[in-house]
Amino acid sequence: MKSAAFDYVKPDSIEEVFSLLRQYGDDARILAGGQTLLATLNMRLSEPQLVIDITGLKALRGMRVQDERLHIGALVTHTEIENSPLVAQHAPMLSQAAPHIAHRAIRNSGTWGGSLAYGDPAAEWPCCLCALDGTVHLQGPDGARRVSATDFFQDLYTTALEPGEIVTGADLPVSTAADWYGFDELARRHGDYAVAGLAVAARFKGTVAQKVNLCFLGIGAVPVRAWHRGNRGGLPEGRARPVARSDPRAGDQAAPGHRAGASTADGGARQPQCNHSLTPETHMAELHSLQIEVNGQKQQRSVQPRQHLVDFIRNDLGLKGSHLGCEHGVCGACTVELDGHIVRGCLTLAVQAQGCKVRTIEGLSEDGDVRDLQEAFIRHNALQCGFCTPGMVMAAKELLQARPDATRTEVREWMSGNYCRCTGYHAIVDAICETLAARAQKGTGQPTDQVNA
Ligand SMILES: Cc1cc2nc3c(=O)[nH]c(=O)nc-3n(C[C@H](O)[C@H](O)[C@H](O)COP(=O)(O)OP(=O)(O)OC[C@H]3O[C@@H](n4cnc5c(N)ncnc54)[C@H](O)[C@@H]3O)c2cc1C
Ligand code: FES
Ligand code: FES
Repeated sequence: MKSAAFDYVKPDSIEEVFSLLRQYGDDARILAGGQTLLATLNMRLSEPQLVIDITGLKALRGMRVQDERLHIGALVTHTEIENSPLVAQHAPMLSQAAPHIAHRAIRNSGTWGGSLAYGDPAAEWPCCLCALDGTVHLQGPDGARRVSATDFFQDLYTTALEPGEIVTGADLPVSTAADWYGFDELARRHGDYAVAGLAVAARFKGTVAQKVNLCFLGIGAVPVRAWHRGNRGGLPEGRARPVARSDPRAGDQAAPGHRAGASTADGGARQPQCNHSLTPETHMAELHSLQIEVNGQKQQRSVQPRQHLVDFIRNDLGLKGSHLGCEHGVCGACTVELDGHIVRGCLTLAVQAQGCKVRTIEGLSEDGDVRDLQEAFIRHNALQCGFCTPGMVMAAKELLQARPDATRTEVREWMSGNYCRCTGYHAIVDAICETLAARAQKGTGQPTDQVNA
């Protein structure tokens, strides 16, 4: 599955974004983390003429506490929220919910603002923001405005975003000693979209709960606030209708657009769109010059904007170790490192990697920093056909660095973003756990052979 041709631009000012949105209207799409948009483009549920990459807008990054509210910029990634001490201190519910969002490679790219703008009723952030009495910040050519989270999510994949506006961030009250939070969800596998979930925010005076917000995800067209002051016991009318579900055979991990038709998430119509005459047959997008470092070697090529990073690596550079399976972010076969963090190569455009450092499985063999892991894979027969193995090793490599004290359960959760069709998972998990244990015994978190040297 490859997307139709489109043009690509990465503005460095928000005014330029508004100007392009005005010029192209519904033929333009905002690209943030791309973990939803690129899946829908790959499946041709949407065929925009122009993709506007907003990741160059520095003002949309960062988190801060101001006036007793935690402000999170639209471009903050799910992983940044998950790992943030500021979030853990001031919004512990978000720290609890973050690990439930997809898998590490997707959390490394997907953004807070992208999740809010998309408005998936099964997503974690919209539900948490409603439970926490959060506010979404919007900006358009005519200025900025703020909308309470409960008003922002209006219907299935439909938000209060007006055409030409973008989400710049959202804020929520900081937690106090009188507050209590809880978040949990029911999913078929860890990282799958939840079947249902519940976020709870309560404020106590002594032992008496003065205010309790319960917000459910996955049970209606928008996050459903089951109870709040002034709406005791009532569900907002018309908001608890059943949500269309994906084909259950897809493991409930299909990209959001796959589950409910196309979504523009930008205030436009919510149906698959192709309202222009540009198709790959009639439209060749302008080539972009790409300078990139892959496995320590500088490369320069011209690429079509629609080309995925993994296609570029395989076809243009001839590095065939990274594989293509599902091409919508589910199987993990295409996992590579971008500037030190794993990403889905099928949900990353090659042009997005301009100026970045990429590492593939071929790069690992050379410097040997996971030789102990590779040897453990062989010892445990953790591979047969080898199709999934490069993605497995790349994902496990980041686990070894980020979670050196991971338990077996945590290893299974982390690796749930990678599918293996022939070996089975026990041997793979055994190999990773053995490597973790060996490194812990050496007390360095480094490969055992390097420690011995
Ligand atoms: C396999 C898989 C599993 C997933 N599982 C989960 C899950 O369990 N829970 C969950 O919450 N999510 C899940 N996701 C989605 C993921 O969290 C996405 O990162 C998120 O929904 C969208 O964020 P993004 O930054 O990637 O947005 P993009 O994909 O870049 O954009 C999504 C949409 O929002 C628009 N948009 C993006 N940013 C803005 C902005 N600032 N202003 C206006 N419009 C904007 C885009 O035009 C697009 O229409 C999953 C994705 C995949 C591929
Ligand atoms: S996740 Fe990229 S090919 Fe399956
Ligand atoms: S080893 Fe064959 S798919 Fe995993």
